[in-house]
Amino acid sequence: MNILITAGPTREPIDPVRFLSNRSSGKMGYALAQAAVERGHEVTLITGPTCLTPPATARVLPVETAMEMLDATLRSLDGINAAILCAAVSDYRPANPSPTKLKRSKNTPDSLALVENPDILATLGHLQTRNFFLAGFAAETDNVANNAKDKLRKKNCDMIVANLVGKSGTGFEADDNEVVVFMKSGEQVELPRLSKHDVAHAILAIIEKH
Ligand code: PMT
Repeated sequence: MNILITAGPTREPIDPVRFLSNRSSGKMGYALAQAAVERGHEVTLITGPTCLTPPATARVLPVETAMEMLDATLRSLDGINAAILCAAVSDYRPANPSPTKLKRSKNTPDSLALVENPDILATLGHLQTRNFFLAGFAAETDNVANNAKDKLRKKNCDMIVANLVGKSGTGFEADDNEVVVFMKSGEQVELPRLSKHDVAHAILAIIEKH
């Protein structure tokens, strides 16, 4: 298959030296890319800033912001069989990033105006014609199953991989992950705590079956 994978965080600039971002290291997305290559698939990896090395044979498109990730994703849909959106995309970005470094002043700013970023997964889910399998992730600190099923429905995807985050040893930055896979069909697969590499193989095996 031709598989598109997004990975890592996005960075939303406040000024040339500061940004809004999150704890995603890219490990889960890169593990998916590595496992997909090991399983003989062609991989396009659209990645936010990380310190990781992508698989040598993957086509890698580095991006920084959510808008750049959306643009690179929409430009890479031709001929894909599956898209797995694992990136932790910022839901908001500063409304008026400063072109010059903001200076410390006596008057501490009491707010930072934000605007909403596009939802890349929902954008793909609601394309008028979609002929590829669409998988998303859901990072949840609570009410995991309900929140994940809600995202599956609202973003109109075929599969959501839900992971409980905020617990040490799994989720953001960790080498392991513990996920439950929810399918549009209602099928549910609960995986034990595994290395992200093994989680990636298990997810790909489910996608291949569908
Ligand atoms: O990178 P690691 O350190 O290895 O951590 C892995 C991970 C925790 C980041 C990963 O397993 C994970 O859960 N990725 C999704 C993180 C996330 O942003 O979840 P969410 O519930 O906010 O978003 C749900 C889905 O919508 C995701 O597929 C996300 O890519 C997508 N989304 C979200 C916001 C947005 N503006 N556009 C999107 O496409």
